[in-house]
Amino acid sequence: MNKTLYVSVSKKIKKFNKTIKIPGDKSCSIRALLFGSVCVGKTKIKNLLESHDVLDCIQALKSLGVKIVKNGKEYHVHGNGLGSFINNKKIKIWVGNSGTTSRILTGLLATQPGKYYLYGDKSMNRRDMSRVFAPLEKVGAFFSPKNKKTLPITIEGTSMPLAQNHIENLGSAQVKSAMLASFLNTPGISKILEQKVSRNHTEILLKNIADIKIKKTRKGNLISIKGQKNLHAFNYNVGNDPSSAAFFIALTLLIPGSKLTLPKIICNETRIGFIKILKKMNANIKIKNLKRDLNSGELLGTIVTYSSKLKPITVSKDTAKFIDEIPILAICSAVLANGLTTFKNVGELVHKESNRLLEVKKILNQIGIKCKITKDSMKIYGKNKIKTKNRSVIVNTKGDHRICMSAMIMALALGVKTNIKFFDADTSFPDFIPTIKNLGGKIAFK
Ligand code: S3P
Repeated sequence: MNKTLYVSVSKKIKKFNKTIKIPGDKSCSIRALLFGSVCVGKTKIKNLLESHDVLDCIQALKSLGVKIVKNGKEYHVHGNGLGSFINNKKIKIWVGNSGTTSRILTGLLATQPGKYYLYGDKSMNRRDMSRVFAPLEKVGAFFSPKNKKTLPITIEGTSMPLAQNHIENLGSAQVKSAMLASFLNTPGISKILEQKVSRNHTEILLKNIADIKIKKTRKGNLISIKGQKNLHAFNYNVGNDPSSAAFFIALTLLIPGSKLTLPKIICNETRIGFIKILKKMNANIKIKNLKRDLNSGELLGTIVTYSSKLKPITVSKDTAKFIDEIPILAICSAVLANGLTTFKNVGELVHKESNRLLEVKKILNQIGIKCKITKDSMKIYGKNKIKTKNRSVIVNTKGDHRICMSAMIMALALGVKTNIKFFDADTSFPDFIPTIKNLGGKIAFK
């Protein structure tokens, strides 16, 4: 996180009509690095996102003895196979702000003999890790201090992992992926019943390299892995990040007369739930040129957005499919949809980089929008004519990139004077400010 960047926006952005490149996807970049590190041979990754979370993931793997080099535009991960991380001394591993790195890596370390001390930044160190510690203890890993639910933690991996039948009911792709990571080095067949569907990039990637089967059942997806098979290095093209695209899709909807084209965005069904919601709200968004990328197995498409007026709705299903986009969806609902929009079953937002329900409410209240939150719901009383005269917004959230970017999009759409202390986009979208400028936005830095 860049602790000193203080940004201020006070001018509305003018209408635009452009095609822009969104950087590579964060979830896929981190997975390609982590799973490449336990394969045998050289994994080649194209279009890797060079954001803080991904660079921290690279450093974490390097501290475990994995050679990773940048060769032109490609990253090469020189993996030595399952159980090949350094283990002759207790290794300290920094995971920064990255929940995805910390949780999936914990899964890999759980079945890798050795002692590992995992620690992150302030925001990461307050996030719940018991969701992976508890099921990984059953696999045989040991976490100390015992009963601690957060980082820092010492992980002791087991050399005798036990196959599992795990039930995933949080709708967390990080938990699902951590368990799948641990199953790779576990003898026999381990299974997960996924009761709430979450992003499936891990399953798609592992289909190319591991013995994985996925069966649709009445109770959810049943994912099974036959462990301790040699994994062979792979080639992976990272598609462009739909969660980063969401900010600019929103900005286009908000600025009358605008059009934006975003090529090669990941259009995996588990990631574009926010587009479905916006379309239900009457947004004019089209997905074109849908094609599966043969290297990554991911579906890519061009997303074309036109400015739109929205209508309020109630959203209660499949929350995991748009969990990271709720803050920006909330901004769109508040500013574009006249009336009550309700998000139900969104309690997981409390466990993100900040308490996102609370942070969104604080921002909306400052522009005169009523927003009510409970433990797992958010109600927004939107107005499509917001008076911004004599109003100003201060955003004081530390360590939450998506809250910072959502606030900036709102400021550019309304032209309301907004000061964002501790601005951060580098965690997931280092090109965010250059892209705003490319579209004609004016930002002042302090
Ligand atoms: C991610 C999963 C989601 C998401 C996060 C990235 C992933 O977290 O919020 O930004 O890459 O698996 P949870 O799995 O904790 O819901």
